[in-house]
Amino acid sequence: MANVITSTDDYQFWRDEKLAKAQTNIENCLVEVCNPAQLSTAEKSKISDLCRINNFALFHTPAQQNYESSIVSFNQQFGLTEFDQHLYAQKHGLAHITQSHQSDQSEFIPYTNRAIGWHTDGYYNPPKARIRAFSLFCVSPAESGGENQWIDQQMVYLTLREDNPDVAKALTHTQAMCIPEHKVDGQIRRKMSIGPIFFTDELTNQLYMRYTQRKKNISFHESDEIRQAVTILDQFLTSQTPYHFSHSMQANQGLICNNVLHKRSSYKSQKDAPRLLLRGRYFNRVHPW
Ligand SMILES: [Fe+2]
Repeated sequence: MANVITSTDDYQFWRDEKLAKAQTNIENCLVEVCNPAQLSTAEKSKISDLCRINNFALFHTPAQQNYESSIVSFNQQFGLTEFDQHLYAQKHGLAHITQSHQSDQSEFIPYTNRAIGWHTDGYYNPPKARIRAFSLFCVSPAESGGENQWIDQQMVYLTLREDNPDVAKALTHTQAMCIPEHKVDGQIRRKMSIGPIFFTDELTNQLYMRYTQRKKNISFHESDEIRQAVTILDQFLTSQTPYHFSHSMQANQGLICNNVLHKRSSYKSQKDAPRLLLRGRYFNRVHPW
């Protein structure tokens, strides 16, 4: 089986194909959908092709009677069924990403109006709960701010490796990034997570990225190579390349992706309609059609 990290031949083949096919114009990545609960063959194959090539697709739907059930049906058509039943997910697996006034929830940045730095979802999860895809759907946009930025995480690896193979290699170190355990009142809520930043996901054989720019409570392996590589990665993320995308999602627009690297700017909600995004996180990847 192909392994782009360990085999130079596999890497070169994968790189050439990716560079030839990668989309850089956001308009080519947006698919108009008539009924998200029942996609046409053309809509389905366009979205799944974009996810195969770029690891994401944007979509736009008409207004829905029931947003949760429409988005759950939409995601199911791409095989996204094994959802992460995390703390604030509702029973259908979608979490309401909005500004929370509950004290326990508002200590987590996604449930505030603050900016969030570059990360992949579930970077702290154990391997058996690895997040391979997520979806975001905008029910109510912000009055200002709340812009999403993202980049295909596999393109990040490719670009770093083309610039300097040693940097890409350092980020595959088996102990590159460590997230300590999360304790509440002396009880362990989440075990320590230690592992590489880039690696081959054994279930899908795809190049996977696990990362957060939130340096609080994160430690990197004590080596100059890894520290330097993380600095170069962060510099690359703050630069602008044709593979960096940014978009302020409007009502009825959504993103479906294979856990791309992403961030969000701070925002201000409209007075009567707080910004509301529905987010699903899944252990599967977007199914190819
Ligand atoms: Fe996220």
